[in-house]
Amino acid sequence: MRTQVGIVGAGPAGLLLSHILHLQGIDSVIIEAKSRSYIEERIRAGVLEHGTADLLCEIGCGQRMRAQGLVHGGIELQFSARRQRIDFQELTGGKSVVVYAQHEVLKDLIQARLDTGGQIFFEADQVSIHDFESASPHPRIRFRKDEIDHELTCDFIAGCDGFHGVCRPSIPASALQVFERVYPFGWLGILAQAPPSSHELIYSNHDRGFALLSMRSPTISRLYIQCDPEDDIAAWSDDQIWSELHARLEGIDGWKLIEGPVLQKGITGMRSFVVEPMQYGKLFLAGDSAHIVPPTGAKGLNLAAADVRLLARAFAAYYKSGRTHLLDQYSETCLRRVWKVQRFSWWMTSMLHRFEDDTPFDRRRQLAELDYVTSSRAGAQSLAENYVGLPFD
Ligand code: FAD
Ligand code: DHB
Repeated sequence: MRTQVGIVGAGPAGLLLSHILHLQGIDSVIIEAKSRSYIEERIRAGVLEHGTADLLCEIGCGQRMRAQGLVHGGIELQFSARRQRIDFQELTGGKSVVVYAQHEVLKDLIQARLDTGGQIFFEADQVSIHDFESASPHPRIRFRKDEIDHELTCDFIAGCDGFHGVCRPSIPASALQVFERVYPFGWLGILAQAPPSSHELIYSNHDRGFALLSMRSPTISRLYIQCDPEDDIAAWSDDQIWSELHARLEGIDGWKLIEGPVLQKGITGMRSFVVEPMQYGKLFLAGDSAHIVPPTGAKGLNLAAADVRLLARAFAAYYKSGRTHLLDQYSETCLRRVWKVQRFSWWMTSMLHRFEDDTPFDRRRQLAELDYVTSSRAGAQSLAENYVGLPFD
């Protein structure tokens, strides 16, 4: 098989890249390890920056999001038994975010790809990449599907296969610099059959640890609590989870959290991770394969979308004019945004979570930071402009 851009991974990065390339007349094939139903059902991120939402509309994949997504013009920050709203619209000249589940975005993108003749090999085994050094004319992706070995020859490979994929580890370690911070806590997340107890998302800094109230629809809530990353999810009963959520989110003017049956639950570890550069020869990394942010602030999916926006533009320039200047600048241009988003995600995480080794001084400083951010226009505006999404270059 032959294509122009061989894409490993059908997550947000791989699918978006493939569809944008298609709209530019560039051919691509996606190789994905999991099944279509697995990808379309896995519960992950939920908040789209205004630029990500606009991008989905521009490429003709925004119809369901516009109909079913929940537009949010702010968030609430809760601390010291107070709840303060950060008004994004007022602080950013009318911008907002959209709450729309990642797996719904993936359904829309997969459908769009298949409707326009896109090729996605789901359930591919033994995926490996070869001959992607600068000098080699034809990079290759090998994989096994339905007991048959396949080889895809391409001009470039896009490594969109997430943090645990094969692309990043295929680059010689000596060519990469890794920057990493692992946090001593994780998030226990539940999906509950319960109407959201608040119109806005609530990020709560509580003595017992962080909690977040989010939602997926008028009848489904998404809730998170800070926990030990080594905890066994089976050891957390639904009653225990609700009890922690009540303790960490209530206590404001008689406000009550609405409970409902827990539909799904899981624990995610938290890390900040960046690899530099995001390119090696004819292999370009995008999304989680190149960087991970802790989830506070909901940036993972949005950063993946920002990467592939640039990568698609660089491929388009190459196929139009033969010039590689945008491909050559890809890593450097991406990393400027990546590091700003890393900073924001680290800052939100540090401001809102309980750290075991915090001294009473650290705790008072953390609460003062929340007080500053919610009482100063400059402080609130900085949070708001990052949360709705920094402008694209
Ligand atoms: P991925 O979505 O990881 O997609 C990579 C794809 O590559 C996957 O489909 C995978 O199956 C495939 N793949 C992997 N290895 C191979 C291989 N060898 N061959 C072929 N295919 C392969 N972000 C937030 O902002 N908020 C959240 O609440 C949030 N929750 C999360 C919860 C979990 C459990 C996880 C894991 C992530 C969460 N994230 C969250 C992060 C966000 O979902 C990611 O940043 C986003 O999915 C990145 O998109 P991506 O396309 O780069 O990678
Ligand atoms: C959600 C996830 C986040 O990481 C966040 O900061 C806000 C909302 C969510 O899954 O709804």
